[in-house]
Amino acid sequence: MNTITAERVPAFSLRQVQQVRGDVHTLRDVDLDIPAGEVVALVGPSGAGKTSLVRLLNRLDDPVSGTVTYDGAAIESIYVRELRRKIAFVFQVPVMFDGTVADNLLFARDLAHAATRTPTLRTPEPAEALRLAGVDPEFASRDAQSLSGGERQRVSIARALMTAPEVLLLDEPTSALDPDVAAHILATIRSLADTMHLTVVMVTHRLEEARAVSTHTVFMEAGTVIESGATETMFSAPTQPRTRDFLVRQR
Ligand SMILES: Nc1ncnc2c1ncn2[C@@H]1O[C@H](COP(=O)(O)OP(=O)(O)OP(=O)(O)O)[C@@H](O)[C@H]1O
Ligand SMILES: [Mg+2]
Repeated sequence: MNTITAERVPAFSLRQVQQVRGDVHTLRDVDLDIPAGEVVALVGPSGAGKTSLVRLLNRLDDPVSGTVTYDGAAIESIYVRELRRKIAFVFQVPVMFDGTVADNLLFARDLAHAATRTPTLRTPEPAEALRLAGVDPEFASRDAQSLSGGERQRVSIARALMTAPEVLLLDEPTSALDPDVAAHILATIRSLADTMHLTVVMVTHRLEEARAVSTHTVFMEAGTVIESGATETMFSAPTQPRTRDFLVRQR
């Protein structure tokens, strides 16, 4: 066996990224590599630019200047529907379409097959996606509008899995949920990343959540990336004074 382990290409690389939303300069000179195959937490105070950044990663927005690459390719060179199949977005408050849970899941899978340029793409069955997201497969026949908040968030994760994604982006996926429900969902996200070799990028306000779920943490403040590194190091020995201040303030 080869003893030299090649460094993996980052999932995403941002270089000199500037972003403006409305009249607010939300991202300033962002240079960041997001490692592949890890659970990456994006943390920082309200207004830091976390949502602005994560929205660039499946082209919900494009930056006003600078470059974003995915898996080594300029992100805008990737057919956008295929990009969004590969890079699934789970929102804070998921929207379910009318119909059953299975209808919602199969709709996502149909879109994926229509979008893909990989004719042999293998996507999961609804029962499998539900199981992976920690939902009883019997839920497939439930009315999607009748679900509780926690069930809805799990089903939205299952729906994201229906496109056989490579990356899962989550913007505050647990902030609308009770802490115990949130903790279970985080455990599910972590095990998904491991079993499906997904790259996960999760925005969270809760530092204990970032610490529990992520292997890599990016700390942002005022539109800039202050520090990015292994989660354990970031929490136990942050190098930047502003990271240290934030950790102390949040305790
Ligand atoms: N569409 C918009 N129009 C005008 N200003 C915006 C818009 N979206 C965001 N902003 C502003 O840009 C800044 C960064 O917002 P962003 O949503 O990226 O921060 P965030 O870190 O996700 O914050 P939060 O933790 O509150 O979700 C904030 O000051 C916000 O008010
Ligand atoms: Mg936000």
